Amino acid sequence: MPVEIIATSDADLRRAAEILASGGLVAFPTETVYGLGGDAWNTRALARIFEAKRRPAFDPLIVHIAALAALDDVADLGALVPEARRAACDLMEEFWPGPLTLILPKRPRVPDLATSGLPTVAVRLPNHPVARALIELSTGAVAAPSANPFGYLSPTRAEHVAAQLGDRVDLIVDGGRCPVGVESTVVDVTGPAPRVLRPGGLSLERLRTVAPGIEVLDRTDPAPKAPGQLANHYAPRRALRLAPAGGLSAARPKGRAAALVFDAESRRRLEESAARFAEIRVLSEAGDPVEAAANLFDLLHDLDSGDCEELWAERVPEAGLGAAVNDRLYKASKKT
Ligand code: TXA
Ligand code: MG
Repeated sequence: MPVEIIATSDADLRRAAEILASGGLVAFPTETVYGLGGDAWNTRALARIFEAKRRPAFDPLIVHIAALAALDDVADLGALVPEARRAACDLMEEFWPGPLTLILPKRPRVPDLATSGLPTVAVRLPNHPVARALIELSTGAVAAPSANPFGYLSPTRAEHVAAQLGDRVDLIVDGGRCPVGVESTVVDVTGPAPRVLRPGGLSLERLRTVAPGIEVLDRTDPAPKAPGQLANHYAPRRALRLAPAGGLSAARPKGRAAALVFDAESRRRLEESAARFAEIRVLSEAGDPVEAAANLFDLLHDLDSGDCEELWAERVPEAGLGAAVNDRLYKASKKT
């Protein structure tokens, strides 16, 4: 039986919340990407998330809350040294609700399955009315990885979830397209200085306005130093080759190929070059990194289900959300 997709009326959300509260899995929209939600307090639901995603249990989940008042149930800010606590509070005050996930000391009652046995827990307060209402109506803490099979492109529409996970999820709440389009930025505040573990929907530039000394983990380092840093994340089924910005003109695809370029100018240069692409898609005509991020997974899903055998992409400028776009493209290109 195909998975049921429902809308976002009060009655719909109450039904979805009941399924969550009774240990079921519900895919729901957030401002970043669709999440595969399960009750964070229910180990059976957590185990089902790993199973549905075919995700290794050493990759911990993000616990989503709907209100700051729920933070204390999940995380122990008192276990942080005073400077770290201040940094964490400043970041929350400025950027929550929003596409920021904080790594914090965990409360003992958070199941080890959610955190892969780590002493820390990833917490996020999403800025999406449907996500917030659903979490509030269920148990107040919903563990949710992106609703894609492990290692595959993240979903930005309900149809992506249905196509990828099918009836491995009990219900999908269709809240339309996710406006940010890339996952949250993950920041670890438990160390000597806040550190970005995953670039995402909140830019480094904006983080620096609150935490000027913030550090950034090198995600291209082959030896992962944080969970979830495996290089072949976010990959399409087709092979994806990554060129430097403006570098696709030198590409010589062998088969029927599609190119994903940054802006209208890149497209123009590519069309004038000797490179032969059956299809050229543009992340943002105007060269806006926010729009590029919003379109990234959407376009990759489209191309990956189209008739081109090869996907080629170029890096985009690093500024703003460009860093998150480049990170996802890099990981997609590392698929083995
Ligand atoms: O935007 C998002 O964050 C989406 C939506 C659904 O909220 N969720 C998402 O979840 O991207 P997921 O599971 O695909 O990514 C969670 C990331 C992983 O890289 C994981 O390793 C990291 O957060 N993470 C979780 N707990 C951690 C911890 N205790 N320490 C370090 N990293 C952690
Ligand atoms: Mg993911």
